[in-house]
Amino acid sequence: MHGINCIGVLTSGGDAPGMNAAIRAVTRTALYNGFEVRAIYHGFKGLVEGEIVPFRSENVSNIIQLGGTILKTARSQAFMTYEGRCRAYDNMQKEGIDALVVIGGDGSLAGAREFAAEFDLPIVGLPGTIDNDLSGTDTTIGYDTALNTIVQAVDKIRDTAMSHERLFFIEVMGRNAGFLALNGAIATGAEAAIIPEIATEVDQLGELIRSGFNHHKNSSIVLVAESEVTGGAMGLADRVRKEYPEYDVRVTILGHVQRGGSPTAADRILATRMGEAAITALTEGQRNVMVGIQNDQLVYVPFSKAIRDDKPINRNLLQTIKMLSI
Ligand code: F6P
Repeated sequence: MHGINCIGVLTSGGDAPGMNAAIRAVTRTALYNGFEVRAIYHGFKGLVEGEIVPFRSENVSNIIQLGGTILKTARSQAFMTYEGRCRAYDNMQKEGIDALVVIGGDGSLAGAREFAAEFDLPIVGLPGTIDNDLSGTDTTIGYDTALNTIVQAVDKIRDTAMSHERLFFIEVMGRNAGFLALNGAIATGAEAAIIPEIATEVDQLGELIRSGFNHHKNSSIVLVAESEVTGGAMGLADRVRKEYPEYDVRVTILGHVQRGGSPTAADRILATRMGEAAITALTEGQRNVMVGIQNDQLVYVPFSKAIRDDKPINRNLLQTIKMLSI
């Protein structure tokens, strides 16, 4: 027997569209199966500070279509200390919470892993991040929506790039992962994607310019993953201005616009399936795993594997971009 009566749910780290759909699925699946639910506001910070309220079905009405997270989120300094985690554990005991569902990215799941190990707690994670940088899952909640936001923005920038015959460097999020830049470039027909996964191996910008990439085109779009390793869009633009003054260069940093907005159907479906799976996982006695999806099958991925910094990126797509930008 799993011995669980009451499940706590929280969102942590950077918000991602679809987190609300996940909260809804977790809450209602838990209630349907006879569990009590406690919502924890402001992520682990709220767990440390005791921001915990009982949730009923109506608390998650009308949220499936909303971006952001109704539970709010935070990056907690206190939870990083052992004392902070002790307070969090005490609050769980006080509220009668036996298990946790944590929705967040790699930092949040790393925190969950440590907490679970120290206090012998059943915790299940859901991959909630636009970055798509968790291992063991083909995709993460929020990634598809962010990608679509990028596509809409880049399509608009293309209009002005073409009219003024300019070279645009467009910086997209992804911290140290190139998924948004790479697939964003494919989806917008960009000339190149500059991604951290290969930035130390190849001078992507140098190669691009040497190949005379826009000699017979009147505009060019390059998607750049935000990362110190790539130099970011500003860094690359500065380099082009110095080395190739013939280009009329502009920079757009899409920033937090990528994190907001109503989730796409794909993200709502993913979040709903994963939310349900989190409760199934707990009833099956699973602990310290993230729910992932591989070839459309839900899977359990140990936290230690999920947060490993080695999710493979499809490098062949770089060649596809190159070939199609002739
Ligand atoms: O991890 C999600 C993410 O959006 C990254 O892509 C980005 O680097 C980071 O969060 C930005 O964090 P913040 O909202 O704290 O500035």
